[in-house]
Amino acid sequence: MTTAPAYAWQNGKLIPWDECVVHARSQGAFWGANVFEGIRAYVSPDDGVTYAFRVQDHLDRLRRSMKSLHMEIDHSDAELTDACTELVRANAFGVDVHVCIVAYFDLAPDFDSLGYTPETGVHITSTVVPRSPAYRDGVAATVSSWRRISDDAMPPRIKTGANYHNSRLAQHEAMRNGFATTLLLNQRGTVSEAPGSCVVMVRAGELVTPPGTSGVLEGITVNTTATLAERFLDMPMRHREIDRTELHAADELFLCGTKSELLPITSVDRIPIGTGSIGPVTRELQDRYDDAVLGRLDQPGWCTPVPMTRTEVPA
Ligand SMILES: Cc1ncc(COP(=O)(O)O)c(C=O)c1O
Repeated sequence: MTTAPAYAWQNGKLIPWDECVVHARSQGAFWGANVFEGIRAYVSPDDGVTYAFRVQDHLDRLRRSMKSLHMEIDHSDAELTDACTELVRANAFGVDVHVCIVAYFDLAPDFDSLGYTPETGVHITSTVVPRSPAYRDGVAATVSSWRRISDDAMPPRIKTGANYHNSRLAQHEAMRNGFATTLLLNQRGTVSEAPGSCVVMVRAGELVTPPGTSGVLEGITVNTTATLAERFLDMPMRHREIDRTELHAADELFLCGTKSELLPITSVDRIPIGTGSIGPVTRELQDRYDDAVLGRLDQPGWCTPVPMTRTEVPA
């Protein structure tokens, strides 16, 4: 077990990590009735500054998820941005970290577990999450026997904890069967996404990802990748449905997610993708992605520096 960070943030305050709790009967804890975002912050070797990546875009998606669930919280985007950077600064990690912002439904009147409650809270935690060791070599994937949840029953566009039951079933099955990850088909039988990442295919000189209507979370990393591909490779990202067997026919395949970054997939169900090793487009995009997250590109709003000086930290 790794050592826990010193601080968390909850409902407006930096607090000791162990005091960051929600009640067992809150709807957030009981049903996973929450919405959340995962953000990475990277330490730049160029200037030693830690940069949080695309914070406002994550907050925009958090607000969209909240809107669908009729959820209100007491904090502005500016407060949440400050809370994230202040938390990372207070914990003095000195290495790359992952920050989770969770807005949750709290206890409902009469402890009714399905009734509406306007009571909400927000907690933010940050932990050390190093880049996957497979980032440069890739991973073996399978196609899941589980189907992706759909917009008419459990919308994947809403980033709520409850949706991740579907992701866990798929991920655990894959790992038990000896794969690092898995790709889920949607209710129409075309490719949707991985348990916690979008998927991108390179085929015949085109970059392709399933559209937002394919049962996917509208990913920020895939959006970053599309911007980088257009700007540096002159390869616009196409959004269209992907058939299962197109995965085998792909020249390159990779996952796109805040946590997984651009993670190459080198085989699907033991069938090699392309040459079976990381391809040139993936490699080039990974390098550009590094430049993006380390603040080396002039992309306004992408990198939020974490202030070096502290405000108030509890004793
Ligand atoms: C189900 C799912 N799909 C896709 C993604 C990728 O989204 P993003 O790139 O915004 O992190 C995530 C990551 O949060 C996810 O959980």
